[in-house]
Amino acid sequence: KPVRLLGLSGSIRRHSHCTAVLNTLAGSLGNKAGNKAEMALFPLNDIPPYDPDLDAENTPAPATALRDAIAAADGLVIISPEYNYGMSGVLKNALDWASRPAMKSPVRGKPILIMTASPAFTGGVRAQHEMRETLSGMMGRVIARPQVVIGMVHEKIKDGRLTDQAALDFALAAIDDLLSEIALLRGAKGA
Ligand code: FNR
Repeated sequence: KPVRLLGLSGSIRRHSHCTAVLNTLAGSLGNKAGNKAEMALFPLNDIPPYDPDLDAENTPAPATALRDAIAAADGLVIISPEYNYGMSGVLKNALDWASRPAMKSPVRGKPILIMTASPAFTGGVRAQHEMRETLSGMMGRVIARPQVVIGMVHEKIKDGRLTDQAALDFALAAIDDLLSEIALLRGAKGA
């Protein structure tokens, strides 16, 4: 059975570079010989602003769907643009929903690969620290590896696909590291 990855993009705009990167990675995994892993994307467009009252009284369906999708995944691939030196508010808000109930959230113990992309040559690197810190706060297992940062991303995408081979290879190597971490954890659990 292929490993099931869930992809989250911190950008909800139609022609998002971040979403294009994720879509390309999902496609590459599907085309790979042996099909070790598959990745589905969960768009964050319908996630409302986090409100503890709303969560306590009647958790909105999109938020429940996000939690369920995370729970069902073996690992997460999260990519964000850099907005004002941090992750996008859309992603932070979605992570806030995903982080509840505290201590028992579906993110707890989940292996996670983080990536950033930006048209700037800095590739969104200034958002990486915040993403790692926030995910660690909800006990997500952000994997230890060199950062996946894609600079000048607008020049590396054509027709919604990441066409830059070096960037694609680097991102796919990172996914291999995520798969190794998932296998390691499964072994440790005796599963
Ligand atoms: C940006 N952008 C940006 N880029 C960057 O490298 N560092 C930054 O701090 C910011 N800040 C920022 C704030 C806001 C509010 C916006 C809308 C944009 C530019 C950003 O990287 C660019 O719009 C990307 O193309 C966004 O990613 P998607 O939507 O293409 O995935």
